[in-house]
Amino acid sequence: MRVLSYLTKLNWLIFMLAGIGLVLLSLVAIKPFPTEAFAGNKVYLPVVQNGNPYVVLGWNDLGMHCYDRDYSTLMVLPPYNNLYAQVIKRGDPPQVITTGITVEYSVPGNTYSAGKTNFWDYVFKLLGVNPAPNIGLTGKGLAGLMDPSSDHFVAQGIPVTEFPDNALTTPNYFQLAHFIVKDLAGNVLAQTDATIPVSSEMRCDKCHNTPSPTNYRMNILQKHDEDQGTVMSLQAAAGNPAVCSRCHADPVLGMPGNPNLPSLSAAVHGLHAEQTTDCYSCHPGPVTRCLRDVMSTQFGLTCVNCHVGGMTALANQNRTPWVDLPRCGNCHPAAFSENPGTLYKLSKGHGGLFCESCHNSTHAITTSREANDNVQAITLQGYAGPIGKCTVCHLTQPTSGGPHQ
Ligand code: HEC
Ligand code: HEC
Ligand code: HEC
Ligand code: HEC
Ligand code: HEC
Ligand code: HEC
Ligand code: HEC
Repeated sequence: MRVLSYLTKLNWLIFMLAGIGLVLLSLVAIKPFPTEAFAGNKVYLPVVQNGNPYVVLGWNDLGMHCYDRDYSTLMVLPPYNNLYAQVIKRGDPPQVITTGITVEYSVPGNTYSAGKTNFWDYVFKLLGVNPAPNIGLTGKGLAGLMDPSSDHFVAQGIPVTEFPDNALTTPNYFQLAHFIVKDLAGNVLAQTDATIPVSSEMRCDKCHNTPSPTNYRMNILQKHDEDQGTVMSLQAAAGNPAVCSRCHADPVLGMPGNPNLPSLSAAVHGLHAEQTTDCYSCHPGPVTRCLRDVMSTQFGLTCVNCHVGGMTALANQNRTPWVDLPRCGNCHPAAFSENPGTLYKLSKGHGGLFCESCHNSTHAITTSREANDNVQAITLQGYAGPIGKCTVCHLTQPTSGGPHQ
């Protein structure tokens, strides 16, 4: 229960700081309707739309989520992906709807996680809660119903791994999640697909792989114990893995930590600032390459172009981790900025749609290097890039206005 209330507190914190609820964006594929029935409208409709009266946009709120395959020694982050969707009833004007419909999510070809990670063997010791195997910290599994919110649907804490059922040793960091919108009679109204990015490629082992101990996670605990007088390695050896955020505040888990200690982010970035400036040493990673957005592929931007000041700035104890983050508006004009005081992932633009519903998540801003990130846009409007074809949502072509006007 403790974790759940922490998670609630986290949401509350973000709510207060952001001034608005959470929303997740994902890409969607529309079930083709018979073209003949809508022949009269054809000239106004995108080819792939074929007159479908509903559109669903789906997305994962972060460009990447990392988790660990082995929680026997320590936990930085649990498996925890968040999917969002917005359903639009096409029309003049279009309408964002949440009633009279359900939205189902699944990760085709990836139906279980227990055994792909040993999280469920340790979750009670780590967090004091006991979700059933394959169920995440907020009760969601790898498939199920999304929860309706004011103007969107969300499924938080999906415990997905990067290993499809038929490829237990071949990671796929950018799998597709599938979304299905149904009316209350069970008729399919709209469908889509969006990436559910996940990776365990945190390369702590690159440096903590000393001959003794051979377990690099144990090496991390031993170093900490030597320098800070903690006894985490003994506790872990006795079957009680360490939870960093018990002592070091971590807003993303809603864990307040010990107010006299640096946050987890400040501690880890600060101590390692002299060891490396390569973010992929710990963030997934040299193989995953979580940064795949249009700015990195077409304009050469790297982590520190946006995360100005790099490791040293991240170690500043006056910033709030996960909240004091870069903003589109730092570099783009006001018409392309987030809502005031609100993170990108929570901001909304044209028609009350989340920025992420048209652009995809941070680090995956369309057009992305990864083909799966572009599936939704291509299905809906015929080309990759932000959703900009008016008739994806408007039944007839508007004569003025548009996403940023
Ligand atoms: C580029 C090499 C490198 C990588 C990658 C790396 N570390 Fe370290 N880490 C070090 C070195 C070197 C030390 C010892 C520094 C010292 O004792 O002053 C250290 C020390 C630590 C300590 C001990 C802190 C203390 O109080 O002394 C912790 C905890 C730690 N690392 C955690 C991690 C975690 C977690 C990761 C992966 C997310 C990681 N490290 C990745 C090089 C690295
Ligand atoms: C039982 C409490 C406790 C736990 C659990 C804990 N730490 Fe610490 N940690 C401390 C204390 C105390 C310090 C010393 C802080 C200081 O000197 O300001 C520290 C310091 C650090 C530092 C060095 C910060 C610096 O700037 O020198 C790093 C890095 C760190 N911890 C990482 C971790 C990681 C990673 C984990 C989880 C594997 C973890 N800690 C778990 C108590 C804890
Ligand atoms: C030594 C390992 C390590 C390196 C190197 C590293 N990070 Fe991190 N980073 C972490 C860990 C561990 C967390 C998760 C902390 C948590 O759960 O709050 C994190 C979290 C973050 C966060 C989210 C929390 C926050 O403070 O807002 C950002 C942003 C971030 N890192 C950016 C970067 C950038 C940019 C670089 C390269 C300049 C980098 N990191 C390099 C280990 C590292
Ligand atoms: C084009 C700018 C840009 C680049 C390049 C970039 N980031 Fe970010 N990053 C952001 C923004 C903006 C946010 C905050 C997103 C939000 O407000 O929801 C963010 C957030 C994060 C977070 C917090 C989790 C999340 O997704 O919100 C981490 C961790 C992070 N970045 C790491 C990195 C690393 C590592 C790199 C390089 C591999 C990188 N970033 C490159 C803009 C960028
Ligand atoms: C560090 C500055 C910086 C930040 C922060 C930043 N951008 Fe950019 N962005 C650029 C630059 C530079 C370009 C290259 C073209 C230009 O100047 O418009 C670009 C280009 C783009 C493009 C492509 C335009 C095209 O011509 O294809 C999009 C879309 C975009 N950014 C969206 C975003 C979003 C969304 C965010 C926030 C999540 C963001 N940017 C944050 C600097 C930034
Ligand atoms: C209805 C879809 C839609 C929504 C919602 C939306 N955008 Fe856009 N955005 C677009 C399209 C299409 C473009 C490219 C054409 C243009 O520049 O208008 C674009 C372009 C951009 C660019 C690149 C500007 C440049 O300099 O080239 C940025 C940055 C951006 N949007 C940020 C945002 C932010 C932040 C939000 C949320 C507050 C948002 N967008 C909401 C569709 C959308
Ligand atoms: C992804 C869906 C989507 C796309 C793409 C989109 N819109 Fe919209 N638009 C909406 C929604 C939703 C509303 C909100 C309707 C309302 O409740 O007022 C809206 C409202 C409007 C309005 C004000 C209400 C009205 O219909 O008079 C105008 C004008 C408009 N859009 C023009 C455009 C233009 C021009 C484009 C293409 C350049 C465009 N939109 C692309 C979803 C979209």
